[in-house]
Amino acid sequence: MPRKFFVGGNWKMNGDKKSIDGICDFLKKGPLDKNVEIVVGVPSVYLEYAKSKVPAGVLCAAQNCYKEPKGAFTGEISPEMLKDIGIEWVILGHSERRNVFGETDELIAEKCKHALDTGLKVILCCGEKLEEREAGKTEEVVVRQLTACAKKIKDWTHVVVAYEPVWAIGTGKTATPAQAQEVHAQIRNWMKEKINPGVADNTRILYGGSVTADNCRDLAKQPDVDGSLVGGASLKPDFVKIVNAAK
Ligand code: 13P
Repeated sequence: MPRKFFVGGNWKMNGDKKSIDGICDFLKKGPLDKNVEIVVGVPSVYLEYAKSKVPAGVLCAAQNCYKEPKGAFTGEISPEMLKDIGIEWVILGHSERRNVFGETDELIAEKCKHALDTGLKVILCCGEKLEEREAGKTEEVVVRQLTACAKKIKDWTHVVVAYEPVWAIGTGKTATPAQAQEVHAQIRNWMKEKINPGVADNTRILYGGSVTADNCRDLAKQPDVDGSLVGGASLKPDFVKIVNAAK
């Protein structure tokens, strides 16, 4: 089975009810390619609001969750709570969680395990910083981040991996299609060797980092790029063009 094209929008800490209405208007207008899986990452306070407004065929994801079902963890939300309000997806391991909030590979792995055990689907992010790329450590860093999670993930059916080089996020400096393809192929090869060939064949690997309406098609043409995870451009009507990039 070919891998279904997947486009995620990560709204990050942006928006209010009014702007969410605007995003839902352009999503409704579309038209959105029916063969694409579309998931938008919504700030947790707006999850129920956005879920009630997005058109059919667009799902909402939380941008984070904790590794425990409940308890004395002020400020956190659990996968159980997300399930309770009908949310199916969560983004975990985003570089801003890693680098701004100090989340470790180990914590992200525990979050992945608990989210999957609770029945959520996970967009698992990985990616190197500029100095790591310049030191020739891209593959080593990405494999280290994914290996921590692989130790705890038994079933990859509900995992989508997003390769997001930190130097490309919000900078306007997109990885070239060849740079993206190179790392995606390394990730798939790692899956084949360290997990199994079925997981390597079936797991979607998205590219994220300054994806725009202009560069999305060339990225989508790469054999190991199965879609994108879009930040800034997911707040604008251009997102529709990115969703339709594989057409
Ligand atoms: P930008 O598309 O704004 O670079 O953000 C990418 C990202 O971090 C998506 O998760």
